[in-house]
Amino acid sequence: MNLVLLGPPAAGKGTQAKKLNAELGLPQISTGDILRAAIREGTEMGRKAKPLMDSGNLVPDDVVVGIIEERVRRPDCHAGFLLDGFPRTIPQAEALEGLLAKRGKRIDKVISLEVPAELIIERMSGRRSCPKDGSVYHLVQNPPKKAGQCDLCHGPLVQRDDDAPEKVKRRQIEYAEMTAPLKDFYAKRKLLASVNGTGAPDAIFAEVKKALGR
Ligand code: AP5
Repeated sequence: MNLVLLGPPAAGKGTQAKKLNAELGLPQISTGDILRAAIREGTEMGRKAKPLMDSGNLVPDDVVVGIIEERVRRPDCHAGFLLDGFPRTIPQAEALEGLLAKRGKRIDKVISLEVPAELIIERMSGRRSCPKDGSVYHLVQNPPKKAGQCDLCHGPLVQRDDDAPEKVKRRQIEYAEMTAPLKDFYAKRKLLASVNGTGAPDAIFAEVKKALGR
């Protein structure tokens, strides 16, 4: 099964993707995580992406399409994959269709997490993540066992640069203008399932599974 998780910034895509990965074994492919790793490693792609990500703007389509093209070719994606944060523009979605068609594959389902703006702000301001292993916490909803420390690797937790309030607005505008039109794009292809993204993560996950017929 090849899946796409759509939703505004901090809608809980990564949280649900980890649950899907644990239950269905589908590799989670997060363009945001891949770009942040490139920034940490100081690669050329990371150096180019950093100012754009820090300001809440999208990275150019050709960069992220290149990431996905390389990633879905790997053996762990042969039985299916889960795209988290990609596609984010119509040209990205068209490129995805093309590159999958070349390999005799297609997207089977697109789950759109619907979360109101006020909840988004709360989720973003409370998010803390581990730069080492990618674990994500929330100060109130999902706190780490020890304040400021990752449960898994015990490293220090950080607030993402683009979660600063002044960057959040730009990310929301980018979502509304560039990404939300993908809902129509996939609805026309009869692939879209909208899921209420409010409530506890496990309750949302039950709805996601229902949308997948599981
Ligand atoms: P990316 O990393 O993809 O960011 P995003 O889409 O803004 O999504 P987030 O990671 O912010 O949130 P999420 O939906 O995964 O929510 P999470 O599960 O963490 O992209 C970052 C940047 O990279 C972009 O701005 C862009 O510059 C660039 N980029 C990436 N992909 C690109 C592309 N395809 N094209 C161009 N540029 C690209 O949850 C958020 C918080 O809420 C957490 O603290 C979590 O614990 C909490 N939470 C989750 N679910 C619940 C719940 N049900 N109840 C209470 N709390 C919850």
